[in-house]
Amino acid sequence: MQLYDFGSGRTDPGSFPTEALAAAASVAVRELGAELVRYPGDMGHQGLRELMAMRESKREGVAVAADHIALMNGSMQAVTLVAEALMEGPGDVIVTEELTYSGTIAAYKRLGAELVGVPLDEQGMRVDALADVLASLRRRGVRPRFIYTLATYQNPTGSVMPRQRRLELLEVAHYYETLVVEDNCYGDVHFEGPQEPALYALDDSPSVLYIGSLSKILGPGVRLGYLLARPPMLGRILDRRYDGGNSLLAAASCAVLFRERLWQHLAETNAILKQKRDAVLAGLAQNAADLCTWSRPVGGMFTWIEFPDAVDRNRLMALCAERGIVVARGQGFHIQREDVPAIRLAFGFASLAAIREGVPLLAECIHQARAPVMV
Ligand SMILES: Cc1ncc(COP(=O)(O)O)c(C=O)c1O
Repeated sequence: MQLYDFGSGRTDPGSFPTEALAAAASVAVRELGAELVRYPGDMGHQGLRELMAMRESKREGVAVAADHIALMNGSMQAVTLVAEALMEGPGDVIVTEELTYSGTIAAYKRLGAELVGVPLDEQGMRVDALADVLASLRRRGVRPRFIYTLATYQNPTGSVMPRQRRLELLEVAHYYETLVVEDNCYGDVHFEGPQEPALYALDDSPSVLYIGSLSKILGPGVRLGYLLARPPMLGRILDRRYDGGNSLLAAASCAVLFRERLWQHLAETNAILKQKRDAVLAGLAQNAADLCTWSRPVGGMFTWIEFPDAVDRNRLMALCAERGIVVARGQGFHIQREDVPAIRLAFGFASLAAIREGVPLLAECIHQARAPVMV
């Protein structure tokens, strides 16, 4: 029973452009025809690469070459591939935010990486702490393979790193000669205020690698993401790719869909997600302000809700399950699996009605999980 699904970062199902995508797929199949008898190769469908270069270039205000973009099976393939290509073996160090995307934690740990965490504040990764971490690694003779960062609409906290801190991060990374992998898969899920520049737009060296996705603007089912990297890095990463490339059919369909209506689509879906975010924040303000604090994201799909340590996390998850509420336990996002007193609420997928009903119930569960158990 999942009545209130606040579990994972998915888009609004009601605004999925089913008919438009069906029409686009039909055009794409005819455009591709017998091209589908070949393997797509490491770079992928030219039309979608050009469109994603335009997407990046328009958002960031810098020139982006389609030749520097390789399509991937979701951004997760890029997240994994960069580590496979840049790591030499188990025990290699990757520096990340202390709280980061659980999928990345799992993938990097499975590759044998040692994750070294940097604390965050409401402006993302703390660069003073990053400098300390890199200095201490250097003293130990350890050169991290790269810094993996979610600078924009951070998962799970929703924070956005301001431009000045981004510049400082890049300066520190250069000083310690460390590559930066920027995962910006929520980059266009933006609700209000100015958008902060991507790291790659502030630094034109090959040492910043960038990951984008269509999962958060269309749906993860299409499995389309991309890696943007400048030579020689792109070739170095793609040398480790052995999958024959990703679906030309999916890529061509999305290219046809979005070549006419990318920005219009984003305006429509972001307006819906903003409404949902507002409903979550209102529900929390009305029902949880005495016990919890939470982030107010200006983009992305998550609110990070923190509560006192006295709230029993096991009990909270059990109470949520009884009521059909799915949320992500904070522990899953901590690189050392510390049981942090927090949960991540994803607001993209649940309906407005489910949010309006479910957030007060969630607040009730948090209150109950704090109360002493009567025996
Ligand atoms: C930060 C981050 N990176 C990567 C992914 C993977 O997304 P996909 O492979 O669907 O593009 C996610 C999914 O939630 C995510 O939150």
